[in-house]
Amino acid sequence: MSKPNQKPVNPSRRRALQALGAATLAGWVPNALTAEDGLIRRVIPCSGERLPVIGLGTAWAFDVGDAGAEREPLKEVLQRFTVQPGRLLDTSPMYGNAESVIGDLTAQLGNRRSLFLATKVWTRGREEGVRQMEDSLRRLRTESLDLIQIHNLVDWRTQLGTLRQWKEQGRVRYLGVTHYQTSAFPDLERLMGTEPLDFVQFNYSIATRDAEQRLLPLAADRGIAVIVNRPFEKAALFGRVRGQKLPAWAEEFGCRSWAQFFLKYIVSHPAVTCAIPATGKLHHLEDNLQAGVGPLPDPDQRRRMVDYLLSL
Ligand SMILES: NC(=O)c1ccc[n+]([C@@H]2O[C@H](COP(=O)([O-])OP(=O)(O)OC[C@H]3O[C@@H](n4cnc5c(N)ncnc54)[C@H](OP(=O)(O)O)[C@@H]3O)[C@@H](O)[C@H]2O)c1
Repeated sequence: MSKPNQKPVNPSRRRALQALGAATLAGWVPNALTAEDGLIRRVIPCSGERLPVIGLGTAWAFDVGDAGAEREPLKEVLQRFTVQPGRLLDTSPMYGNAESVIGDLTAQLGNRRSLFLATKVWTRGREEGVRQMEDSLRRLRTESLDLIQIHNLVDWRTQLGTLRQWKEQGRVRYLGVTHYQTSAFPDLERLMGTEPLDFVQFNYSIATRDAEQRLLPLAADRGIAVIVNRPFEKAALFGRVRGQKLPAWAEEFGCRSWAQFFLKYIVSHPAVTCAIPATGKLHHLEDNLQAGVGPLPDPDQRRRMVDYLLSL
């Protein structure tokens, strides 16, 4: 039975939820969703569409100027990122020049259609929100977006109303909300419980696991796709393991680097749809993408991963 204020479960959404359930019942190793190309994908519950579990964040990394020396590495990153199409790229008008840089580079590469493009609205008032989203479309050089999220819940009532209209008009395919701090979880939880949302984005990492308590189970229950931000805690996790070797048993689930260890922990949670590590470096992108193929840790291995990190 659908919950108050949640849209009724339509047949395609029901199938999608069943697929998510099947992955869960398969025992936290969602390889049932691994396609022929080897990528692990998760279902977006409201539509049944599948997303590769590793996306790309763009805060700081894509906020550069016009100089070729700054843009060329990012072009290489975007080209590699779309070799297998359909991955989620997350940006925001808050990230300086990032939207313009992405728009320019995807126009040069001709790969806009190979991206699941997500941005945000981050302002107060209806007219200002519309103006900002139209600016985003222009800067990203696209006529429609795959996802628009309300950044840090700013003026969410107003912006959610506009986003619903944009979705009806086909200017955006999905809508959602974001935050990056655990202190915002009670607000996110209230919204997830009362508003029909397609996506929610929040912080979750092997070191900060608060989302496991309520938000991740709630997202699975309500059929809301989850994007995980700050998967490396803005690189702080690498500082925590500096000079430390990966445990030999990490090979059992295909981890060859600390980045893959951190990311595989996140995407092995069955309620996570996608993690969005940020990088502007090709070798880091290659590293991160490897977390989205091969086996994932099971519940025992996940506990062992946490214990190991705590023991360092
Ligand atoms: N409120 C919100 O909506 C919100 C808030 C925060 C974040 N976000 C989104 O989430 C994304 C990710 O979060 P974040 O940018 O805060 O931090 P993050 O992804 O946890 O960490 C990014 C840092 O990790 C480094 N890194 C990436 N891959 C690496 C690898 N394989 N090995 C070593 N270092 C690596 C990056 O450096 P290099 O560039 O040198 O690779 C960068 O310094 C953001 O970019 C943004 O899209 C949204």
